[in-house]
Amino acid sequence: MSDTPSSPLKLMVTGGAGYIGSVCTARLLEAGHEVTVVDDLSTGHADAVPDGARFVAGDAAEVGGSLLAEGFDGVVHFAAKSLVGESMQDPSKYWHGNVATSLRLLDAMREHGTPRLVFSSTAATYGEPAVTPIAESTPAEPTNTYGATKLAIDQAITSYARAHGLAAVSLRYFNVAGAYGGFGERHTTETHLIPIVLQVASGERHRVQIYGDDYPTGDGTAVRDYIHVVDLADAHELALTGATAGEHEIYNLGNGTGFSVRQVIDSCREVTGHPIPAVVAQRRDGDPAVLVAASDRAREMLGWQPRRTGLNEIVADAWSFVQRRIQQ
Ligand code: UFG
Repeated sequence: MSDTPSSPLKLMVTGGAGYIGSVCTARLLEAGHEVTVVDDLSTGHADAVPDGARFVAGDAAEVGGSLLAEGFDGVVHFAAKSLVGESMQDPSKYWHGNVATSLRLLDAMREHGTPRLVFSSTAATYGEPAVTPIAESTPAEPTNTYGATKLAIDQAITSYARAHGLAAVSLRYFNVAGAYGGFGERHTTETHLIPIVLQVASGERHRVQIYGDDYPTGDGTAVRDYIHVVDLADAHELALTGATAGEHEIYNLGNGTGFSVRQVIDSCREVTGHPIPAVVAQRRDGDPAVLVAASDRAREMLGWQPRRTGLNEIVADAWSFVQRRIQQ
C-alpha cells in the first residue's frame, strides 16, 4: 500500500448495495479504487452493486470481518439499520444491528491491520439542538435510538483510533437526496420526503402529507438541509485519503441551506410538471423544526466542495432515477 493520497486503494464497502453505498461505490470505482462490496441484502439490492465491484453477500461483521484477512487499505462502513421510527419500536435490532456489528467489524479491522475507516454517521446524533446551523461542536444529544446507536459507534471509533492507531473519519449526513444515473433511493419502506413526493408524481400515491404546518419557520413547515448524494459520496473518498493514523475526525455534510417541506413539494411540482396534491397532517413524532448543517470543517479540512446544491437539480436527478425505474 502506498501512502500517496492519489494511489488506488483496496477498499471494502459494507452496505454497498444500498442507496448511498451504491453511489459511493460507483464514485470510488471511477476514481480508480478497487472495491469489494459486502451487503446482506436485508435492505439493499444485488443489482444496485455497480459493475466493476466485487460483491460478497453477507453480514458486515461476520463475512466482512473475515474477508479483511485478505488485506485491505480501508473500510467504508455504510451497512446499518436506519429507520428512526423502527428504532424506537425495536431497539434491539438497532443496538445489535448497528452497534454490535460495528464493534465486531472494528475488532476485525484491528486483528487484520486494516488502517482506515470511514463511517456513515448522521445528523440524528445531535438530536434537536436549539442553535442553527449545527456544527460538530454542537452537543450530541440524540432523541431517538437510531441516533443513539450511531453516536455510540462514533464514540467507539474514537477510542479504537486512539488506542490502535486507526485512521478514522465519521461523516454526519444531513438529508441525503438525488441520484446518480441508475443508482438511487428505492427503499421497501419509504419514509423520506423527496421519494414520497415523487411517488405522487409517478402515480404510485395520490397525495403527499405535510407533517405539520405550525412550526416556527417561514411557511410553518419543517426545514431540512438537502445534500446531493454524489456530493456526499465524493466526501468519502476525500475522507479516506485525508484520514490520519490515530485520529478520529468528525465532519458534518450538508449544504448549509435549509428548504421547507412546502419548498420541496414546489420544487417537485416544477421539475415533474405534476400538480402533486398535498394535505396538512399531524406533526411526526420527534421531528425537529429546523436541521441545517454547518459543514465548514469538511470544506476546510477535506477540501470538500458540494457542487450540486440547487434543490431543483437534486430533485431532477431523483426524478430521472424514478423514471428510469418505471421504464425498466
Ligand atoms: N415529511 C413530510 N411528509 C412525508 C415525509 C416527510 O412532511 O411524507 C417531512 C418530515 O416531517 C420532515 C421532512 O419532511 O420534516 C424531511 O423528512 P425525511 O423523512 O425525508 O427526513 P428526516 O429529516 O426525518 O430524516 C433525515 C434522515 C434520517 C436522519 C435524520 C436526522 O433521513 O436518517 O435526517 O435528523 F436520522
